[in-house]
Amino acid sequence: MIVLDGVTKRFGDRTVLKGVDLAVARGEVLCLIGGSGSGKSTILRCINGLERHDAGTITVGGIRVDDQGLPAIRRRVAMVFQRFNLFPHRTVLDNVIESPVHVHREPVEQARARAIELLARVDMADHAHSLPSALSGGQQQRVGIARALALRPEAILFDEPTSALDPERVGEVLRVMRELAQDGMTMLIVTHEIDFAREVADRVAFVDQGVIAETGAAADVLTAPQQARTAQFLARVLHRNG
Ligand SMILES: Nc1ncnc2c1ncn2[C@@H]1O[C@H](COP(=O)(O)OP(=O)(O)OP(=O)(O)O)[C@@H](O)[C@H]1O
Ligand SMILES: [Mg+2]
Repeated sequence: MIVLDGVTKRFGDRTVLKGVDLAVARGEVLCLIGGSGSGKSTILRCINGLERHDAGTITVGGIRVDDQGLPAIRRRVAMVFQRFNLFPHRTVLDNVIESPVHVHREPVEQARARAIELLARVDMADHAHSLPSALSGGQQQRVGIARALALRPEAILFDEPTSALDPERVGEVLRVMRELAQDGMTMLIVTHEIDFAREVADRVAFVDQGVIAETGAAADVLTAPQQARTAQFLARVLHRNG
């Protein structure tokens, strides 16, 4: 479904991705873990074309991420951000129908009906007419997920979807993500929630200094990593969380 082959990315004279090879199968949940600045967000941003990669190839559902492929990619791959990125002056419902109606020219009534369905799915139907500022972080993030689903994406990229939340709000967002995974959504998730990754991910990839340093079944990588740097990273994260 998503394939990266030798992807490199430079910012000025700094090379931040140094040949990333990664594949996510249809219906698979892959968690990306790794230290700050290792390149996790850049990988996601290159996949949906928010950043342009310098070399190597990225394909999504067989379509290459390049100037020609980009409109199709943007439709097929949705993104959920750490800071929700909702439009502050629009209601929850309007946030969810924004892209279907204004970018993809869906009829308003159709988009609205689907939005209400999606808001029910993330348990936010009662807040359809609220403004984002009236919601908790966890509620805003659930709206962010409904918005991501509005275009019927084939895959969703999550960039630390719970790390801006109060601890007591993390669970409600992870629950929605767990349900998506069970429904067979293809998901690539940057996360520091190691317990969640262990439970929900099919595979885990550890990113270090712009390369995938280790990848494997979630249970293997998280409990018995092969690489010393993976083990060091996990020890740090688990110590901090615990
Ligand atoms: N637009 C940009 N311009 C210049 N440098 C950038 C830009 N975006 C990212 N970088 C640099 O690229 C490197 C990788 O950044 P990236 O955001 O992908 O890391 P990350 O793994 O997501 O880190 P974090 O866990 O802190 O979110 C960092 O050194 C960062 O400073
Ligand atoms: Mg990041």
